[in-house]
Amino acid sequence: DANAVPQAPEDPLFGLMAAFRRDPDPKKVDLGIGAYRDDNAKPWILPVVKLAEDRLRNDPDLNHEYLPIAGLPEFTAASQKLVLGGDSPAIKEKRVTSLQTISGTGAVHLGALFLAKFYKTKTERLAYFSAPTWANHFQIFANVGLAYKTYPYFDKQTKGLDFDGTFAAIRDAPEGSIIVLHACAHNPTGVDPTQEQWKKIAALIREKKHFPFFDTAYQGFASGDLATDGWAIRYFIEQGFELCIAQSYAKNFGLYGERAGCFHFVTSPASDAEVTIKRVASQLAILQRSEISNPPAYGARIASTVLNDPELFKEWEANLKTMSGRIKEMRTELRKKLEDMGTPGTWNHITEQIGMFSFTGLSEKQVLKIREDSHVYMTNNGRISMAGLNTHNVDYFAKAVDKVIRE
Ligand code: LMR
Repeated sequence: DANAVPQAPEDPLFGLMAAFRRDPDPKKVDLGIGAYRDDNAKPWILPVVKLAEDRLRNDPDLNHEYLPIAGLPEFTAASQKLVLGGDSPAIKEKRVTSLQTISGTGAVHLGALFLAKFYKTKTERLAYFSAPTWANHFQIFANVGLAYKTYPYFDKQTKGLDFDGTFAAIRDAPEGSIIVLHACAHNPTGVDPTQEQWKKIAALIREKKHFPFFDTAYQGFASGDLATDGWAIRYFIEQGFELCIAQSYAKNFGLYGERAGCFHFVTSPASDAEVTIKRVASQLAILQRSEISNPPAYGARIASTVLNDPELFKEWEANLKTMSGRIKEMRTELRKKLEDMGTPGTWNHITEQIGMFSFTGLSEKQVLKIREDSHVYMTNNGRISMAGLNTHNVDYFAKAVDKVIRE
């Protein structure tokens, strides 16, 4: 009886996007959804994506047939190399299996579904998310029946990492817990562990026999360098962890609507690793077939064309520098403007945080006030999408922040 279905709340982020679109005020500023914008607040098609699309258009061999269940083979192979590094021991030893997914969301979902079915521990299976995390993590895991808790992550005082809190919670989690980690450019805080802190986290995860689950949506987009942003995952692989990775190409290729992503499962080095990974792959294929049958081709073809062509790859790296560079400039500008105005508080976190977002420290009350008074849209937790700022609105935004803080 459909009458019994209760009303669900609107998705906060997509609700915010709709509210922004409805707002007729010409001064309105969209700092909500994490999608790159150029200096005129317009979506940016990466030049390299245009080049790849031209090639695809002129390819007489392309058709609209189904892809294999695991996706486009040259895309998944290139995705492995991108995330793990070309000379990764895991690739050489054939202990990685990869499936093309419906972007990062689909990859997180496939991983969670697989773990819900096959991950066995002595105690209750429990996933741990950073507090805060990408809101979708909660419902994706809940929907496949995995229980979760959170580990403290953000230090409200320093607006940086609460390393002690993170460490203590991971230490106290029941042995064999699933620890969800943002590989780089943590969403929503923009705060990442240092390499030394990552090493300590890895050692602790090993000691507690936890299972690391990486979400990587910003490789190359955060620092502008693919190896730097891929460091944490590659370090864990070097340490021989069994782990999984959800990889998105939404941000670093600007392919938001194409839903290009990849799920990777990596087993530990062992003499029978190659056999084990084949069994894992066979089960993942069944899950994928029952959920989406086979993934969509277009976005994966674009990414694959770029990833497998040295010239285009170089162009892509340049495009990544354009995006990350503009965001870094906006961080510097915003911090400078707030400091020049003497806006109460400290603003070093704006330039210390990295990637798409900054966690400003504004309260929900201030966020709502700024939306009402200045038509600036950010999520209620005070997160701003840095890409929404540009040379034309950063001053306006800084003044709006200054005003709301002094009120
Ligand atoms: C965001 O957090 O704004 C993006 O990752 C978009 C999304 O899917 O939530």
